[in-house]
Amino acid sequence: MSDDASNTTIDDPSDGLFPESVAAGYDGEGGANAAEVVNPAVDLLADLADGGRVLELAIGTGRIAVPLAARGVPVSGIELSKAMAARIDRKPGGERIDVTIGDMTSTRVPGEFSLVYLVFNTISNVTTQGGQVDVFRNAAAHLRPGGLFLVEVGIPDLRRMPPGQDTVPVTVAPDEGGGYLGFDRYDVATQLFTSNHVTVTPGGGEFRVVPFRYAWPAEMDLMARIAGMRLKHRWADWDRSRFEHESTKQVSVWEKA
Ligand SMILES: C[S@@+](CC[C@H](N)C(=O)[O-])C[C@H]1O[C@@H](n2cnc3c(N)ncnc32)[C@H](O)[C@@H]1O
Repeated sequence: MSDDASNTTIDDPSDGLFPESVAAGYDGEGGANAAEVVNPAVDLLADLADGGRVLELAIGTGRIAVPLAARGVPVSGIELSKAMAARIDRKPGGERIDVTIGDMTSTRVPGEFSLVYLVFNTISNVTTQGGQVDVFRNAAAHLRPGGLFLVEVGIPDLRRMPPGQDTVPVTVAPDEGGGYLGFDRYDVATQLFTSNHVTVTPGGGEFRVVPFRYAWPAEMDLMARIAGMRLKHRWADWDRSRFEHESTKQVSVWEKA
C-alpha cells in the first residue's frame, strides 16, 4: 500500500518478510524472472502435473504459477503475504489462479491435487524442524493417492567454511558511492542461518537480515516419510540432471502412497 501524501510505503506486519516494500521490487527484469530460469521450471511442473490440478505453496507474485497456468494447467496457491499475492491478479491470466492467504504449514485449500510444489528455497523460510514437517504434512494432505510433492532448495554451503568460520560471502558489488554486500551466516548447532544484505548508498544505507533453516536432503526424506510420502526423483536442477556430491541445489519429488 502506498501513502500518496508522503509518497512512502506502508508495510503490513502480517505480510511477514515480503511486505509491500519488498513485493514492489520482486518482479524485476532478469535474475529469477528471466525466461531461461522460469521456462525449465514450468516445463517440468507441467509435465509432472500430468493434466491434473496443481497447488503452489508460497506462490508469491506468481512468477512460476502465472506461466504455468498459461499452459492450461489449473493452478491454485497459498501465500502469507497479501502484498505479494496482489501482484498475481494484475498479470495477464492471473485471474485464473485461486489464491488463499495463509500459512503453508496449516492452511487448507478445497479439493485434491496431482502436484503440490514449493520452489525458490522457500521451505527454508520456515525456521523450525516441526514447521517444515508440517509443510510436508500439509502438502500430502492436498494430494490424491499417487500425487507428487516437489521442492526446489539449495544445498547448504557449509563445505566452503573451515572450522572456526561461520560466514560466507555471496555477493560483493561495489557501485558509485556505495554498493551491495551479501553474506550467509550459519549456525551448525541449530541449522539456522541468515542471509545478510548490506546496501550502502551515498545518503546512508540499509542492513537487512533474513532468517532461514536448512535441512539436508536425507532429513527431508524423513519429513516426507512422516507425511506418508516416498522419494521418487532427486535431480540437481530443473533439467533433470543427476544429483551428485557437487550439486548446489536439489529438485526433489516425493510420491504420496
Ligand atoms: C522467495 S519468495 C518465492 C515466491 C514464489 N514461489 C516464487 O518462486 O517466486 C517466498 C514467498 O514465500 C512466502 N512465504 C514465506 N513463508 C510462508 C509461509 N509460512 N506460508 C505461506 N507463504 C510463505 C513469502 O511471503 C514469499 O511470497
